[in-house]
This record gives sequence, structure tokens and C-alpha cells, in this order.
Amino acid sequence: MTTAIPYTNANLHIGHAYENILADFLARYYRQQGNKVIFQTGTDDHGLKNYKSAKEEGISTKKFVDKHAKNVEEVFKSISSSHDQFVRTVDSKKHWPGVQKLWKAISKDLYKKKYTAKYCVGCENFLLAKEIVKGCCEIHPGKQLEIISEENYFFKLSDYKEKLITLIKSDKYKIQPKAAKNEILSFLKNDLRDVSFSREKSRLPWGIPVPGDKKQVMYVWADALPNYITGVGYGSNSNKFKKWWPAQTHIIGKDISRFHAIYWPAMLLSAGLATPKELLVHGFINDKKGRKMSKSIGNVIDPFDQINTYGLDTVRYYFLRSIPSNQDGNYSEEDLIDRHNTELVNTLGNLLSRSLNLIEKSGGKVPSGKFDISLKKEYTQALKNLNESVTNFDFHHGIASVWKFIAKVNQYVDKTKPWTLDGKKKEKVLYNLAESLRLISALTYPIIPNASEEIAKQLGIKKVPLIKSASIKVGTKIKKGKHLFSKI
Ligand code: MSP
Repeated sequence: MTTAIPYTNANLHIGHAYENILADFLARYYRQQGNKVIFQTGTDDHGLKNYKSAKEEGISTKKFVDKHAKNVEEVFKSISSSHDQFVRTVDSKKHWPGVQKLWKAISKDLYKKKYTAKYCVGCENFLLAKEIVKGCCEIHPGKQLEIISEENYFFKLSDYKEKLITLIKSDKYKIQPKAAKNEILSFLKNDLRDVSFSREKSRLPWGIPVPGDKKQVMYVWADALPNYITGVGYGSNSNKFKKWWPAQTHIIGKDISRFHAIYWPAMLLSAGLATPKELLVHGFINDKKGRKMSKSIGNVIDPFDQINTYGLDTVRYYFLRSIPSNQDGNYSEEDLIDRHNTELVNTLGNLLSRSLNLIEKSGGKVPSGKFDISLKKEYTQALKNLNESVTNFDFHHGIASVWKFIAKVNQYVDKTKPWTLDGKKKEKVLYNLAESLRLISALTYPIIPNASEEIAKQLGIKKVPLIKSASIKVGTKIKKGKHLFSKI
């Protein structure tokens, strides 16, 4: 599992945090299913964008990118990102050897050419004439394009046209959602060109040296994309590489799909390496007016702010439940508060506290029982929908089903009224509540890890259970604690 690696030219906004929340959801989900997962993220430290921003601030580029890389790590920590690896492209020991090895492996497809092109520094991308709107790229309106005129190495991307079309059409490299796949196929058919893969060092000294040519450094994307393989040992640890490559999932935003769906698999094909299995392309987090959140527009929301104000689980829940993973969404604090109060406080929080109150009043231990058929049915459906939502890359559907199950357990309490029962009848209901909460702890772990752990803890279970684990042990002593969430 990988995310895109953010540029280290500015502090991250909530849109960047969103991507890592989606990825973390998936990584935790796969681990819950009993899979071994290596989840990788990192920073993209080279390129003209970082170099220019450092110049503007008047500090050395290395100092500048290190400062922002720290911010990236802190943001990922603040969202409880469970990544196993953090790759930095500025790391000349761990990243560069693999990148240079890959360069050599694709050198049969590299040739030198003098050319002139329009370049968007914001995207680190060369633009086609038809992509230029009022002299700018669509994603960075108002940002002057650079005219680049120099001699560079070109990568024979156009030679891979047919192979890429077959790879993507057949879903051997599966691109989701369908709209992103179609857009890529259309670009492949109509607009594929060879691409400059290096820069003259005299103009851009900040980059990985091209092997065998002291005058050139690599184009930032030619150095950044290979993080996906250098992180798992390409160029440094062949056993690790054999074990983990190809990646199961690359998750990225829609502005960089072309690099991941075209450049990257072409580079791998050229080097004779396996291509990743799937590319998930998420939408943009926009501001209230529907404009993409970005530093250049000045409409960014700070992730620390939101997490400090509302709590991590609430922010995670809002992103995963409210914004369809494969579409854009406008960030709305009203919606976030509304979902917090109804779905987290009322539906989930109340279920835990009322259930544990009842068990506590009956001796504080989980009684014996057999799981109720209608609850089991709803749980099985929730799990099925959650699994399907991962396959279909529409996580919000699966999460809605998990909450349907939680609501069903609440209805079960209302219907059975355990406070009016005693003896075996009461025990049966209390067992069902404890077992349901155990399943809820497992189901919610990828979404709201803190609350999920708290549920397990209050149930008297040491660790959040795996999806396929056995039912709750009779006699487990519950440890009723604080409310999961409080009303905003
Ligand atoms: N450095 C490149 C990625 C290289 S991957 C080998 C890059 N960096 S970025 O900082 O601009 O973006 C990092 C990720 O955040 C991208 O997937 C991008 O789409 C995503 N997002 C940036 N702004 C975003 C929103 N407003 N909303 C959602 N995702 C956002 O691209």
C-alpha cells in the first residue's frame, strides 16, 4: 500500500491528510483481515517547486525541505497513520541507488533532445497546448508557466502506447474509478508523447544526478515515482523487493493520475519489472465554494486545527463516511459536527455506555449465550458491504452499513428492554450486546481506531479483535470507562 509522497514546499493541508486517512483505512482494513501489510508514504523533496520555494524563503534547499518533511511526519502522526515506511527522495543512501539503478535499466528507452516546452511548476508537468487556459494550467490558475528550452534526456513513452492500453483495459493494472480509467485510456490514444526525464544541472542543481552525465539531474517525477520500489528494497535489498513488489495499491489524487497510470507502468515495463495491481484515484477536498484547497489559492484548512478542535476519530469518520472516496467533496464543518453528534455520540457512544451499564449492573461479567440470528445477519451484511466497498473503492457505502449494524444493536436494546428482564433471558441479551460490541470494535478499527480500541478496552479485551476471531469469552470482566464521544 502506498500514498503519493507530498512535495516539501509548504505545510500540508487537510486535503493531503485526507489521502493518508484513506490509505490508513485500507492498511488497517487489510491487517484486520489477517493480511501482512507494508504501508509506505514519504516526501518528494526534489523538483523546481521545492527549489524555488526555498530560494524565496532565503534558506538552503536542504534545510527548507527538511523543515517541511518534519511537518509531513507530524501531520501523519496526528492522523494516526499506521505506515511502516517513510521514504524521502532526498535520502542519498536509501533512495538514490535504486533510482539510479532504474535509470540504467530504462536507458535503452532514453535519448537526448533539444526542445522548448511550457512547464507548470505547481504540477511539475509539461503541458500540451490544449491544456493551457488563459496562459496557466487548470489546477494553478494565475501561476505563470515556465518556458523550458534546453537539451534533456527523453523517455520513449510513446513506444509503450499499445502495451499500456492493454494493461489498463484488461484491469491487469486496475484503475478506479471508471472515469479515471477512461480519461487515461483517452489520453493514451490521443495525446501520448515522449517526455523529458532530466534537467540541465546548470539551471536546476537540485536533483538526483543522471548516471554518466554530470551536466544533468533527473526530472522530479523520474526520481519520485521510483520511491514505490526503492522503499521495498530495489537497489538495496533484493529479498525484501522480491517479497513485497508489486504493490497491491497505489492511492493518489486525481491531479497526478497520468504520472501513475502512464509514466510509472511504462518505466516498470521498460525495466522489465512487474507493474502494480491497482491504482485508486481519489477526488479533491474542496473549500465551501467548491474550489480545490491549495496553498496558491490561499483557502487551506490546517489538519492540526481540525483534529484539536473535533478529535481525530471525528475527522477521520467525517472524511471516510461523508466524502465518497472516488469523488470530490466540499469540506463542511457543519456536516462534520452533525455526523459527530448523531452517528458517533448518539448511535455508537450511547450503545457502548448503555450496554456496559447494563452488564455492570448484572455483575460486570459477560454471561454465556448464543449470538442472535437477526443481529448476526445484519453483521454479516455489514461485513460483506465493507468488503465490497474496498473492492469498489466507495468506502462510504461500507461504512454506512457498519453504522446500520450499530443502529440495529440499539434497536435490539430498545426492543428487548433488558432492564425489565432477569435470569437466562437477561443473560442472553447481555451476551448479545457484548458480542455485538466486540464485532463493532473490529469493524470500526480502520475508521476510528481510537474509539475502536477504547471499545475493546472497556469490554475487557486486550486488543482489537481481528475480523475472523472467535466470539467473546464468557466471564470476561468489563471495564466500563469514559464516554466515547461528547456532544459538540
Ligand atoms: N509530489 C507529488 C506526488 C509524487 S508521488 C510519487 C505531489 N505532491 S502534492 O503534495 O502536490 O500532493 C500529494 C497528494 O495530495 C496527491 O495525491 C494530491 O492529489 C493530494 N492532494 C493535494 N491537494 C489535495 C486536495 N485538496 N484534496 C485531496 N487531495 C489533495 O503531487
